[in-house]
Amino acid sequence: MLRFFAEMLDPLLNETVILGYDRFGYHVRKPLWQPQDTQGWMGGKVVLITGANSGIGLATAEAVARKGATVILACRNAERGAQAQADLKRLTGNQDLHLELLDTSSLVSVRDFCARIAARWPRVDILVHNAGALLNCRQESVDGLEMTLAGNLLGPFLMTHLLRPLLAAAAPSRVIFVASGGMYLARLHPDDLQFQQRPYKGALAYAEAKRGMVVLNEIWAHELAEQGIYLNAMHPGWADTPGVQKSLPAFRALTRLTLRSYAEGADTIVWLAMKPDFKAYGQFWFDRRARAVHRMAATRNSPEEIRRYWELLCVLTGVEAPFPVQGTKQ
Ligand SMILES: NC(=O)c1ccc[n+]([C@@H]2O[C@H](COP(=O)([O-])OP(=O)(O)OC[C@H]3O[C@@H](n4cnc5c(N)ncnc54)[C@H](OP(=O)(O)O)[C@@H]3O)[C@@H](O)[C@H]2O)c1
Repeated sequence: MLRFFAEMLDPLLNETVILGYDRFGYHVRKPLWQPQDTQGWMGGKVVLITGANSGIGLATAEAVARKGATVILACRNAERGAQAQADLKRLTGNQDLHLELLDTSSLVSVRDFCARIAARWPRVDILVHNAGALLNCRQESVDGLEMTLAGNLLGPFLMTHLLRPLLAAAAPSRVIFVASGGMYLARLHPDDLQFQQRPYKGALAYAEAKRGMVVLNEIWAHELAEQGIYLNAMHPGWADTPGVQKSLPAFRALTRLTLRSYAEGADTIVWLAMKPDFKAYGQFWFDRRARAVHRMAATRNSPEEIRRYWELLCVLTGVEAPFPVQGTKQ
């Protein structure tokens, strides 16, 4: 009976956003989920999580650490990272947790990080691009690039490119982009990726970067799947994390009692990481279901804009890669 109501309510909740994205939506949908999807043992799997010291990334790290995975905690602050590592070791009993410093907004940091990972681990089974931030004022990265774009998108793009050999070595492997429902309001602006010609608005820059992740996931997925690397994007709904507390205090004050916990926000990431024999790619997931990537015609880009977008990502990160071979998503 619960399953029947959950099945009826799921699409409705997806449309209403507010109830669907908060903890109400999570608990209504829960009866639809298969417990065995997240009950397997992850011993021997190397799971790399960016932004693993806080909020959703921390909850993801805890979940996979409890399942015996080797976890690489990629954090930008040594102190916060070490604290998370110590807490997770104590909480989960798993001592196979490794802290590596990474600032996703710095191209040098990303390159150094990937070189260190490659020197230490022959394979990466699961890469979770969780690190992200909404910045209310325009800032520039150490490379002189607009910071929201740099940290939320350029870093993950470069990392995926550089870690491709390690992901291929672990095939079938998985890459998970943590996007945001905010991306439903944005389209790509390849003519002004860095807000040089438009007034900067933090929420818009964030939504565009997250839209970029979802587009990247779609255009890259087929090519990487041919190598046994399965790319997917997801959004966590609304969770009460330090990120939300800092960047969206008014939103948080209004919704605090209804927001998801860290673990509830992390649930679909953990599911994408653990579901046995999962071979889907190029999809956008929320609460363990594939979702549409557009709600309005206005957020669609032309094929020419998408190709231009790819070229810009390559130029800005110094990556030399042709536009990916296209295929249908699975
Ligand atoms: N919470 C939500 O409702 C919600 C909704 C939609 C999407 N998301 C996404 O979910 C992900 C996790 O967010 P959260 O809510 O858990 O926020 P959070 O608690 O602030 O965690 C974000 C993590 O990312 C790290 N980070 C940010 N910029 C970084 C950079 N340039 N290099 C390396 N690490 C960086 C942070 O490090 P520090 O601790 O050093 O700052 C922190 O560990 C983000 O991608 C966010 O956009 C969250």
